[in-house]
Amino acid sequence: MFHLDAAWSTDEGITRATELFTQTFGSEPAGVWASPGRVNVIGEHIDYNGGFCLPIALPHRTYVAVASRDDGRVRMVTDFAADEPWQGSLDELAPGRVEGWVAYCGGPAWALREAGIQVPGFDAAVASCVPVGAGLSSSAAIECAVGLALADLAGQAMDATSEDRARLAALCVQAENLVANAPTGGLDQAASLRTQEGHALLLDCAANTVEHVSFDLAAQGMSLLVADSRAAHSLGDGQYGARRAHCDQAAQILGVTSLREVADATDPADLDSVLDRMPEDVLRRRLRHVLTETWRVQGFVAVLREGQFEVAGELLTASHASLRDDYETSVRETDVLVDAALAGGALGARITGGGFGGSIIALVRDADAERIAQAMLDATRQAGTPEPQLHLAIAAGPGQ
Ligand code: ADP
Ligand code: GAL
Repeated sequence: MFHLDAAWSTDEGITRATELFTQTFGSEPAGVWASPGRVNVIGEHIDYNGGFCLPIALPHRTYVAVASRDDGRVRMVTDFAADEPWQGSLDELAPGRVEGWVAYCGGPAWALREAGIQVPGFDAAVASCVPVGAGLSSSAAIECAVGLALADLAGQAMDATSEDRARLAALCVQAENLVANAPTGGLDQAASLRTQEGHALLLDCAANTVEHVSFDLAAQGMSLLVADSRAAHSLGDGQYGARRAHCDQAAQILGVTSLREVADATDPADLDSVLDRMPEDVLRRRLRHVLTETWRVQGFVAVLREGQFEVAGELLTASHASLRDDYETSVRETDVLVDAALAGGALGARITGGGFGGSIIALVRDADAERIAQAMLDATRQAGTPEPQLHLAIAAGPGQ
C-alpha cells in the first residue's frame, strides 16, 4: 500500500495545541478552536471574477488554543515556527505593521476589531497538520481558526448560523488581503468555514451564496487523491496579482464589472467572438480560461449529480489544460504529476489552488489508486522532480 499522510484526529490536534500553549505560557487555555484546509475540486482562479468554485474541506485542520488577557497584550506561538513566539499589543496587529506568519495569525484580530467586535488581548498557540504552502490553504485554516476563537472570546461567536459563517469568512478574507497583504479571493475562507461534511460547496462568488452538493466518492468506489508536488509555491510574488490585473483589464475592455457577467451572457458556441475583442493574445487566453472554467464548474456539478464520473474526470483534465496553457499557473512539477496520474488510469486530474507549485488532485477508482500513486512516484523519479506527498481528500466538516 502506498503511504498516505493522514490528518490528525481531533483529540491529537487539541492535545498538541494545548501542550504548546501550556509549555509556552505556563497556564491553561480557555479552549481550542480548529478550522480545515481545503481542496478546490474545480473552479480555479474565478472566485475573484465572480465565478463558481467547488471546494471541499479537508480532514487536515489547524488547531489554536487561546485564552484572553485583560491588558490588551497579545502573545502568539506556532509549531510552524515554535522558536519564534511573538509578543506585542493588539494595536500592532494591523496592515503594514506585521508580516509573515504573525500577519496570518494576528490578522483576524484586526478585521474583527474593524467590524466593531471587542476583541480582548489574548495568548494563542497554533498546531497544524495542514501542509503549509502546498496549495491546500493552510493560510485560510489559521485565519479561520483564530477568527472563530477570537469571536467566541469576544462573546460574539460566529459559527451558529450560515450568515455568521459567511460574515466571518469575509472578515478573514479582509485580514488576508490587508494584513497579510495577499490579494486573494474568497474561495479558501468559504471552504474552511461554510462547507458541510460529505458535501462539496458550490460557491457562487457573485451572489456570495452557497449550495451543498453531495460528494461521497467512497460510496461510488472512488477517491480523490491529492499529491503535493512540493514545488515552491508563493502567491505573494506578484504572479497571482498579475493574473488578477489581466482579468480586470479584460473586464474593462468588455465594459463589465465582473467577467461572470460575460460568462452568463455568452453562449459557449460564441466564445471566439468575445475573445476576438481582446487586443493581445495573453488577455485572450486569460479570458478564455475564466469563461470556460465558469462553464466547466456548472457542467461538473450537473454530471456529479448524475453520477457520470467519466465525464466529471474529463472536465477536471480540461481545467488543468486551461490552467496550464491559458492561465499559466501550472509548473513542470505539477504537470509531471497530472500526466502520470492520467497515464496511470485516473479519470481526471488537475492542479488545485492558486498554483505556481502546490498540489494536484486525481479522481481515481479505488481499484486503480495504488497503481496511479506508483505512476506518480515513478514519474517524479524519472523527471528529477521532488517525490510528492500523498493525501486522501475526504469531504470533511467546517471549522468550529
Ligand atoms: P497555503 O496554500 O498553504 O495557504 P500560502 O503561501 O498562501 O500557502 O500561505 C502559507 C503561509 O500561511 C505560511 O507561510 C505562514 O505565514 C502562514 N501559515 C500557514 N499555516 C500556519 C501555521 N500553522 N502557523 C503559522 N503560520 C501559518
Ligand atoms: C488561491 C486564492 C483563492 C483562489 C485560488 C485560485 O488559493 O487564495 O482565493 O483565487 O488561489 O482558485
